[in-house]
Order: sequence, then structure tokens, then C-alpha cells
Amino acid sequence: MIGDNMSRRGFIKVSGVATASLAATASSNASHAQANGGALAKGQPFPQNVKLPTEPPRRRSADTIGFAIVGLGGYALNQMMPRFGQAERAHVAALVSGNPDKLRHVGDAYGVPEDARYSYDTFAKIAADDRVDAVYIVLPSGLHAEWTIRAFAAGKHVLCEKPMALSSGDCERMIAAARRANRKLMIAYRSHFEPYNLEAMKLMRRKAVGDIRLVRTEQAYRMGPTDPAQNWRVSRLLAGGGPLEDYGIYGLQSALYLTGEMPESISATTFRPAGDPRFAEIFAHVSAQLRFPSGAVAQMVTSYDSAGGNSAVVRGTSGSLIMDPATSYAGQTMRIEGLNEGEFTPGDPMVQFAGQLDNLADAIRDNAQIRTPGEMGLRDVRLIEAIYASAQARQIVKVAPDGRLRR
Ligand SMILES: NC(=O)c1ccc[n+]([C@@H]2O[C@H](COP(=O)([O-])OP(=O)(O)OC[C@H]3O[C@@H](n4cnc5c(N)ncnc54)[C@H](OP(=O)(O)O)[C@@H]3O)[C@@H](O)[C@H]2O)c1
Repeated sequence: MIGDNMSRRGFIKVSGVATASLAATASSNASHAQANGGALAKGQPFPQNVKLPTEPPRRRSADTIGFAIVGLGGYALNQMMPRFGQAERAHVAALVSGNPDKLRHVGDAYGVPEDARYSYDTFAKIAADDRVDAVYIVLPSGLHAEWTIRAFAAGKHVLCEKPMALSSGDCERMIAAARRANRKLMIAYRSHFEPYNLEAMKLMRRKAVGDIRLVRTEQAYRMGPTDPAQNWRVSRLLAGGGPLEDYGIYGLQSALYLTGEMPESISATTFRPAGDPRFAEIFAHVSAQLRFPSGAVAQMVTSYDSAGGNSAVVRGTSGSLIMDPATSYAGQTMRIEGLNEGEFTPGDPMVQFAGQLDNLADAIRDNAQIRTPGEMGLRDVRLIEAIYASAQARQIVKVAPDGRLRR
């Protein structure tokens, strides 16, 4: 169990670490940024409330895949890196960060050798580092495409955080780069490795609520005061339209894997309040209605400006599936009301993090199928584009089975 392992090994809280010596970004990084519409990888202070391990995690076997972690932010340090100890076939082999202090502290805590600690400017040297099999991109979303393509150019496999990128064109370039390099590309959609969501998929395929008629998903929280200069999540360049790409994507995915269908039409709205610096560049809410070939309808809402919610409800001809929270890190609940009523506790949601790492490792070592490949990320980014196209045109748009807009 993850919790047991974490408390046994121990983690130390990091606070007040000097951040003054953030690396000045050198010309190679800056020239890539120019090609990338201005988005620049640059080091950031230690995130709040980070706990680093008191001793480096042990590898579970000699056969583990070495990952380089690119971007030592909140999700990498608080969620994913502590979970490498639960993976059967993955270990942290290298780090890439623009903050040298963070690189040193995190490198020491995870037992990463000094010559396996890279900056954004020295990243290309990773090509010659045989300790690194795969690169895990945990950067702001607007940097995913560039750094994934750079990782393939270095001959490495890639696990890329969601959303895959901010445009379908970038997703296509990432897939092409993977093919050229003959390397694997996986999108870190953790719900495909989480027992509640996996059980829900099975229940829906077995028609546990009958024929699906209606799906409702909600992913919302209220963001504190901030602006694009302080927080990449409200910068259009780094976050696209905002809550849909970051959080609502879980509801979009749920609607697809619970129905088992692709929508044929979408109608959507977006909202941006005037005069609020949080929403100078991104939307505050996005809502969309998806109609599926079976006649089922999904309504999804996502917001950065309402009290928190993370749920999925499926209503069928004989009952309802209720997941609340639906796609959290932990604490999932799930029940069916109606004909097949009951509570479900299919397993510990915390296995979802290591599950992704092992899936990519199995794909690299044994050519196992990747559950969440680049093509899935591309499909979802196309649907996000269709949602924005509908909201902008204020009309229903038609969508092809691969997610492309039908003109
Ligand atoms: N799957 C999930 O459940 C989940 C949850 C949260 C986030 N995520 C994804 O993980 C990625 C990172 O999110 P996060 O919450 O960890 O973000 P974060 O805490 O803001 O960290 C992002 C890190 O990226 C690096 N970075 C490089 N260039 C940057 C720039 N121009 N602006 C800001 N940061 C920059 C920095 O690392 P250095 O200082 O080391 O250079 C920074 O600490 C995103 O793609 C997000 O969608 C996924």
C-alpha cells in the first residue's frame, strides 16, 4: 500500500529553500521558446508543502525503467515522484529543472547522481545518458509538445502529462516524432489505472444501469487571486482556454469511457467575467453537451470559479451510477441506485500513479499495449477544439469518430 510505504520510509517537509539562484535561461532554451510561440521553460520556486523522502526509494527489481522527470513542480514532487517506490518496473534516474537549488535538494533526496541532474539548457545531453530510458514531461501544458519532441530527438520514450498539448496540430507532431524515433508515447491519464474508474467502465459495458441515456460530469474549484504573470494555469500561452484542458478533461474522458462512444455532435458555452485578472486570458467556466450515436447525452461542466466538485453520474434505463468524487487522487466513492443497487469499493485509488509507470515500462520492455497512447490524447484535444468551436460559433458542431470537426 502506498500510504504504508510512504510513512515507513518517511518524508521531510521542505520550506524556505533559497530560490534566488534560479538559472538564467540561456540562448538554446530561448530560441526553442521563440519557435514555440514564446512559451519558455524556466525554473520556479519550490511548490508549497513539498515533502521529500528521508531516504531514496528502493528499486523493486533490477529490471526497472529509468525515468527522467522534467519539471519539479507540485504534481511531480507531491504525487508522482513519491509513487515510483510503488511501481514494479520504474525508477527515477534523472531530473531536469530550471531551479538549481531544487535540483540539488530533490536530487539528494531521491538519490539521483549529480551527473544525472540536468537543466533545460543541458537537456540534449540526456541523449548520451544510458541510465535514462524514458522522459516524464510534467511541465505546464503549453510546453508539452516542445519537450516531448525534444525527448524523442534524444532517443527516449515519453510519458507526457495531460492535456497532451494545446492544439491538435501539436499532438500530431508529437505522434510523428514518436514514430520517427521508433519510441513509445503515453499520455498520463491516471483514471485508466484507477480501480473505481476501471470498475465503472466494466459495469457500464455489462449494462449495470441498462442502456445509458444521460451522463453528467463536473470538475470545478475556486482559484485564489492570481494573474497570468504569477500562475501558468491562467496564461493562455501555457494553459490554453484554462479549466477545460486542465480539469474538465477528466469529465470529458469519463463521458467517453463510461458510454464507450464518441460524440457525433457538440454544443458548448464558455464564460469569462470582465475585470477579473484570473480570467484576463482564460475562461472561468466551460460547459458542453455531447450527443452520442446511441442517443445518449453527456453534459459536462468545468469551472475555476465555483465551489469544488468532482463527480460523474450515469443514468440508464434501469438505474444510475454515481461517482463522487469520481477522478480524485484518492477518496473515490461509487454506488449504483436502481435495479442493481449497491456500493462498490474495488480497490485503492492510489495505485493509479504507479500503474501508469508500469504500463509504459511493460510497453518498452515487452511491447505491451499502452492503455492511454498519444492517439487518445490527440482525440481529446480535437474534442476540446470542437467544444471551443461550438462556443465561439454559438452553434452545434458535428464531430467525426476520430474527434475532428466535420465541416
Ligand atoms: N494527472 C494529474 O492528476 C495532474 C495533476 C496536476 C497537474 N498535472 C499536470 O502536470 C503538469 C504540471 O502541473 P503542476 O501542477 O505540477 O504545475 P506546477 O506546480 O506549476 O509545476 C510546473 C513546473 O514546471 C516547470 N516549468 C518550466 N517552465 C515553466 C514556466 N514557464 N512556468 C511555470 N512552470 C514552469 C517548473 O519546474 P522547475 O522549477 O523544476 O523547472 C515548475 O515547477 C501539467 O501538465 C498539469 O496538467 C496533472
